[in-house]
Amino acid sequence: MGKTNGGFVVVALISCFYLEFGTGADSITPSKSIKDPEAIISEGGVFGLGFFSLANSSNRYVGILYNQVPVQTVVWVANRNKPLMDFSGILNLSSDGNIVVLNGKSEILWSSNVTNSAPNTTTAQLLDSGNLVLYNDDSNGVNLWESFQHPSNAFLQTMKISTDVKTGQKVEIRSWKSPDDPSEGNFSLSLEPFNVPECVVWNNGQLYFRTGPWNGHGFIGMISMYNVYLDGFSLVADSKEKSYYFTFELSNTSLVMYYEFDPQGQLIEHQWDDGKREWLNPLSVLLNDCDIYGKCGAFGVCDSTKRPICSCLKGFEPRNVEEWRGGNWSGGCVRTTLLQCQNEGFLKLKTMKVPAFPDWLSTTYGGCEDQCKKNCSCVAYAYDAGIGCMFWSADLIDVQKFSLGGVDLFLRLPSSELGKIVLMLTKLINVSQLSGFLTLKNLLTKFEVYRFADKEKRKSKIIVITTVIPGVVSITIFVLCLRRWMAKKRGRKQNDKQKLNKGNAGAIFSRKDVGDNSIQDKLQQELPLFRFKELATATNDFHRTKKLGQGNTR
Ligand SMILES: *[C@@H]1O[C@H](CO)[C@@H](O)[C@H](O)[C@H]1NC(C)=O
Ligand SMILES: *[C@@H]1O[C@H](CO)[C@@H](O)[C@H](O)[C@H]1NC(C)=O
Ligand SMILES: *[C@@H]1O[C@H](CO)[C@@H](O)[C@H](O)[C@H]1NC(C)=O
Ligand SMILES: *[C@@H]1O[C@H](CO)[C@@H](O)[C@H](O)[C@H]1NC(C)=O
Ligand SMILES: *[C@@H]1O[C@H](CO)[C@@H](O)[C@H](O)[C@H]1NC(C)=O
Ligand SMILES: *[C@@H]1O[C@H](CO)[C@@H](O)[C@H](O)[C@H]1NC(C)=O
Ligand SMILES: *[C@@H]1O[C@H](CO)[C@@H](O)[C@H](O)[C@H]1NC(C)=O
Ligand SMILES: *[C@@H]1O[C@H](CO)[C@@H](O)[C@H](O)[C@H]1NC(C)=O
Ligand SMILES: *[C@@H]1O[C@H](CO)[C@@H](O)[C@H](O)[C@H]1NC(C)=O
Repeated sequence: MGKTNGGFVVVALISCFYLEFGTGADSITPSKSIKDPEAIISEGGVFGLGFFSLANSSNRYVGILYNQVPVQTVVWVANRNKPLMDFSGILNLSSDGNIVVLNGKSEILWSSNVTNSAPNTTTAQLLDSGNLVLYNDDSNGVNLWESFQHPSNAFLQTMKISTDVKTGQKVEIRSWKSPDDPSEGNFSLSLEPFNVPECVVWNNGQLYFRTGPWNGHGFIGMISMYNVYLDGFSLVADSKEKSYYFTFELSNTSLVMYYEFDPQGQLIEHQWDDGKREWLNPLSVLLNDCDIYGKCGAFGVCDSTKRPICSCLKGFEPRNVEEWRGGNWSGGCVRTTLLQCQNEGFLKLKTMKVPAFPDWLSTTYGGCEDQCKKNCSCVAYAYDAGIGCMFWSADLIDVQKFSLGGVDLFLRLPSSELGKIVLMLTKLINVSQLSGFLTLKNLLTKFEVYRFADKEKRKSKIIVITTVIPGVVSITIFVLCLRRWMAKKRGRKQNDKQKLNKGNAGAIFSRKDVGDNSIQDKLQQELPLFRFKELATATNDFHRTKKLGQGNTR
């Protein structure tokens, strides 16, 4: 009973909508034009092309609307910058073979504006994809013009946001001025090849938001894409031809879904709920202040969970402390110690949004660090299995700390900065289970970082405590190593103590050492040794509040 009623409402709504749009054909030809309020409907009834007004405006526009949903949903506008002022509009094929919007005085408000060699045989057809295409008998299946190549503010399935570097042609999405004014707004969304292609939002021509590079599954600079199953999205890069496009096609054909690029430059996912008969939970892609390009300036890092959201990367300090304190972070940060291209290592920053404009090298893991180390102008690198190595040689801009997802960013720092990281092996678990080769990489399966309160110097230190788990080893080797280590320790005890007291934790353990070399090599290296008690005291018994973080080097 209820069902029958529901069905009736649906039928009523649909027929009401059809009435407005008419039940026309799907094409406009030289002999068939439409005038306000007529419309054409795509063959399967998915989209309609006709005249409409927006909520608080009497202006009339010609555009493409969803025909299968009973809520006015505009996905493309022809005369977006030149509205019709009354109900006398006409949409027809002009004598030169273009589809045109005319007003009552036969003035052309908008034209597809292409050269057409056979105007008499031209058809403008609205497809079920929402694409309005113009073709003639001569064009052999190639469209003279497509609305998909001149998008408004909607990103529909099978539409391609594209950039052709050779021809300079770009298909980009352009926001509306406001919800009731479809004229060109401040924001555009385009695909930028850079060295690794990514999508970018521009605000009046200024970079406003980056998705981060595409890795074959998603954009690595978008937290909202982390763990989301990206159904049917693809970025196709023909680097030889220098042409690129981004598109999507859902495998579930019964889903009605599209993206709207709103007047504030947010990309919003709309999904139709057939039961509730409304567009469901609009999902916004731009989530917080940190997503705005370069919020924290060069070498700043944005963390939306912190207050203030901006801080300087380790080894950097604000360029202008007053501005920075005042919440103007655009000046960014500068190095506290300049790089000398020697005695340097890499600091690992986890779950980061990669900085803008990476250099790129297609390679396998392991190579990135060496490549970066070799090149004195390289200040950071990152690796993603779907991309390869990314390097940065200039300012690091638009760095963000995510709570999950992102990539590990390795920041080049002088060892005087890295030296503040101290490593200590605390215990060895179940040696009897170990097999294979003991490498530090295996050894350091877990570490925790603590703030180390130094009595004499205010400069805080960081201690890494590791727990040793499977890896390998015959106990003998380990014991041997330990002995050697102890011997060294005894010899250096005095020295170490001085170092500690001076607040200079000493040489220690830069990232580079967490490599694949054998335990012997590693343990022979200078390790500063602290008594467990010392550490416990300094870190308040390894108290949670002193803990800066933890990780797993696997
Ligand atoms: C289309 O517009 C042109 C230019 O005003 C006009 O000459 C022609 O008659 C119109 N065609 C139709 C079918 O209305
Ligand atoms: C239309 O105007 C009303 C009242 O000013 C406002 O509440 C509503 O949001 C407006 N609608 C649009 C689409 O701008
Ligand atoms: C049509 O194209 C010409 C140049 O190709 C351009 O000057 C003109 O503004 C375009 N007109 C419209 C309505 O897009
Ligand atoms: C196209 O139409 C014009 C006038 O309407 C006519 O003179 C011309 O012969 C036609 N061309 C073709 C190829 O049909
Ligand atoms: C667009 O930019 C202009 C000029 O910068 C500004 O006045 C206007 O508020 C902006 N509109 C939106 C929706 O951001
Ligand atoms: C396809 O989408 C519809 C509508 O949301 C949903 O009811 C259905 O379960 C989906 N089918 C599959 C195979 O996911
Ligand atoms: C922020 O600082 C920059 C210089 O670093 C300056 O050009 C800009 O005007 C400042 N912005 C504000 C809002 O004070
Ligand atoms: C070092 O890096 C810079 C910037 O990425 C690059 O232009 C230069 O060619 C590199 N030099 C070498 C020797 O790889
Ligand atoms: C060490 O591993 C063996 C074999 O898995 C297990 O039986 C034993 O309980 C473990 N010992 C400890 C102390 O965990």
